[in-house]
Amino acid sequence: MIIVWILIGLILLAMTVAVVDTRILGVKRYSAAELAVTGDAQAVGTVRVVVASDLHCTRFGSKNRRLIDLIAAQRPDLVIVAGDVINSRPSDTEYSKEFFDGLKASGIETVYIFGNHEQKLSLIGEEEFNAYVNELGSHVRIVNNDTFVFKGITIKGLLIPLRMYRDKLSNIETYFKATELIDSFEDDGNYHILVAHDPTFAPMYREIGADLIIGGHLHGGIIRLPFIGGLISPRHRLFPRRTKGLFEEGKGKLLVTSGVGWHALPFRFLNNPEICVLEVPAVKAGD
Ligand SMILES: [Fe+2]
Repeated sequence: MIIVWILIGLILLAMTVAVVDTRILGVKRYSAAELAVTGDAQAVGTVRVVVASDLHCTRFGSKNRRLIDLIAAQRPDLVIVAGDVINSRPSDTEYSKEFFDGLKASGIETVYIFGNHEQKLSLIGEEEFNAYVNELGSHVRIVNNDTFVFKGITIKGLLIPLRMYRDKLSNIETYFKATELIDSFEDDGNYHILVAHDPTFAPMYREIGADLIIGGHLHGGIIRLPFIGGLISPRHRLFPRRTKGLFEEGKGKLLVTSGVGWHALPFRFLNNPEICVLEVPAVKAGD
């Protein structure tokens, strides 16, 4: 009998941790030293970038005020939104407008790359989605397979073909070539950031030549286990690799954020929602 009570207690404790974890917004910081990859080249200055990803229509406070205020409180020079702001319902565009309007009202310059959910929605209602994207484009810089230069940083957004989110890696290798979608970075002396929603394929982005690749999508593995990491991926794979944090990737780095919201499974465990604050070492001083 006592074992039953211990089990019930453990289950209640786990549920409490999950509920609390899911609602606590955290800030994960990365210093210029952590993000520097150029050996002895010195940065002239730093640019503060906030990364927010995978909101999935999750609200923190009325009109998402807590999230927007937390982003604004970091005093960022730029916000990068790395995809899946919405789910795939046509009505989700209202949520998206509310979020981006909130950033605009805070006077924050914003760059946005689509995730798989924006792409899915674009297939469901093409006309409405295009109208929404056009309206958004008046105050948000959308960088789907495009480039944006900002204060010593060159940012490229890679729009990952939708089928890659479902396909087997061995199939993907036969048809995916990143440089057919976007040109490699030029040697312009800037710090080079590639934003690509799914970091699973980061080794396949290497020839683009980024100093830093930014991705989300994996939600930190939803449930995080001490000493092990994330438990499950959106592909329903157990123990996926590199679901949260900063990693070496070729000659550069890979930053994976566990994101802000949740989808499918409506909770997170030992894996609180996060925004990331990056002190990007912009403009190399030369060799
Ligand atoms: Fe995603």
